[in-house]
Amino acid sequence: MLKIDKLAVAYGGTPVLTDVSLEVEQGALVLVIGPNGHGKSTMLRALSGLIPKSGGRVSFNGKDITRASAPEIFEHGIVHVSEVRNLFNEMTVSENICIGAQSRAAQPRLAERFEMVLDLFPRLGERLDVMAGSLSGGEARMLAIARGLMSGPSLLALDEPTLGMSPIMREETFAKISEISRSGMTILLVEQDFMNSARLTDNIHILENGRIVFGGTRDEIMANDALRSAFLGV
Ligand SMILES: Nc1ncnc2c1ncn2[C@@H]1O[C@H](COP(=O)(O)OP(=O)(O)OP(=O)(O)O)[C@@H](O)[C@H]1O
Ligand SMILES: [Mg+2]
Repeated sequence: MLKIDKLAVAYGGTPVLTDVSLEVEQGALVLVIGPNGHGKSTMLRALSGLIPKSGGRVSFNGKDITRASAPEIFEHGIVHVSEVRNLFNEMTVSENICIGAQSRAAQPRLAERFEMVLDLFPRLGERLDVMAGSLSGGEARMLAIARGLMSGPSLLALDEPTLGMSPIMREETFAKISEISRSGMTILLVEQDFMNSARLTDNIHILENGRIVFGGTRDEIMANDALRSAFLGV
């Protein structure tokens, strides 16, 4: 479904991503794990067209989207839930959720999808008329995912969705992501939290210094001394 081939990205001439290749099959949950500052968010920003690619090729459902603009990529069905808080703080939770519904794909079955996201995140349902600016960090992350789901994406790209959450909320949110995945959604998940996120899938890629250096299962990572010490410190 999604094929990223030798993606390269530079900020002002400084290469940040040099060789990122990975594939996401329809319905899969693919995890990209990597330490702080190694290019995970850059990969998602380049995928969704927010920053230019300096090399490589990206195709989605057989179409070359390497040079497509961010709105075009969104219309193709790739929704990027960023790691930064970019809600409309002066608007309500309900209004923020509905802003997600602007794509063409979202137009049929809007009410049904609204119900679906509230079922998934009941905490948001209790706060529909509250200003988004007053939500806690964890609630804001949930709202961002809910907004992304409202557009009826074909592929949901999540950048560290549990960042800033308490351990309990983090566990709860990983369970929700698993539930979204089991409902058939294709998910590209970027995380630093190996222990929690690696439980969700056996399709794990490691991004280090701007390159995908490993692809395999959780057990393979655990069995590899260098990877285990890098990610688990043991
Ligand atoms: N707008 C920018 N301009 C210049 N350099 C940037 C910019 N954004 C990120 N960088 C640099 O690019 C590198 C990769 O950053 P990126 O945010 O993609 O990493 P990350 O893996 O998402 O890290 P984190 O886990 O902290 O979110 C870092 O060295 C960072 O300092
Ligand atoms: Mg990041």
